[in-house]
Amino acid sequence: MLVSAKEMLQKAKAGKYAVGQFNINNLEWTKAILLTAQEMNSPVILGVSEGAGKYMTGYKTVVGMVNGMLEELKITVPVALHLDHGSYEGCYKCIEAGFSSIMFDGSHYPIEENIAKTTELVKVCAEKGLSLEAEVGSIGGEEDGVVGMGECADPNECKAIADLGVTMLAAGIGNIHGKYPANWKGLSFETLAAVQEKTGEMPLVLHGGTGIPEDMIKKAISLGVAKINVNTECQLSFAEATRKYIEAGKDLEGKGFDPRKLLNPGFEAIKATVKEKMELFGSVNKAC
Ligand code: 13P
Repeated sequence: MLVSAKEMLQKAKAGKYAVGQFNINNLEWTKAILLTAQEMNSPVILGVSEGAGKYMTGYKTVVGMVNGMLEELKITVPVALHLDHGSYEGCYKCIEAGFSSIMFDGSHYPIEENIAKTTELVKVCAEKGLSLEAEVGSIGGEEDGVVGMGECADPNECKAIADLGVTMLAAGIGNIHGKYPANWKGLSFETLAAVQEKTGEMPLVLHGGTGIPEDMIKKAISLGVAKINVNTECQLSFAEATRKYIEAGKDLEGKGFDPRKLLNPGFEAIKATVKEKMELFGSVNKAC
């Protein structure tokens, strides 16, 4: 059964480790992440962006697929199904479809509007027992070929949003989605420390987990990060393994064109990446 991310993240914050959010794109992704979490005895959060939800034909399909896998694969570790960077309308659609966790990304609204919309969603999620992530300070990334640097959140705005009763808070600390450019200045630990000081027990979320050096990940966890989002890194490992299979001509040998064979190296590559991240984040054997 899907669970809210609340308990797993409160335990992570108290135990000074982080739970990984791994974004899913299709059946292979979902199966690879769930099986790895079970093998590692680790809690896990499956992230679904609005684009990926649409690609998978809609949120109801996603909920059906994930619930089916939890049962058929006999997954017993805590699993949350989480909307990633949800719009206001997207949040309601996922609540309706049966997600167990929601992110409302109001970071592009003026802070008053972010507060008003987040307040409303705190109420709805509390009634239904869902966890809610809010965001302050937008997280950069590549858009139309231009890499925008991540903003650093205002710690007082973070406190204002945390006090509304959200479950976890994503604060921009110079992190960005996708690959980091060569001139990236690194995470702003000054901002993170200030946000943590203002928000206390609140589990903090680090987006853009791909390509952040290990020492920075560890330092971020020591400063209150309890959830780390990883998306691009699984895509890169999947693509690399698939490319090698095809470049080696394996799809042309015997039944190597069978999608169950063709997609297998990529599936194994996602498993290896997820395992590596769970070890780095410290969530192995933290399932109960
Ligand atoms: P990356 O794609 O950089 O790993 O970021 C993932 C993320 O933050 C999803 O919200």
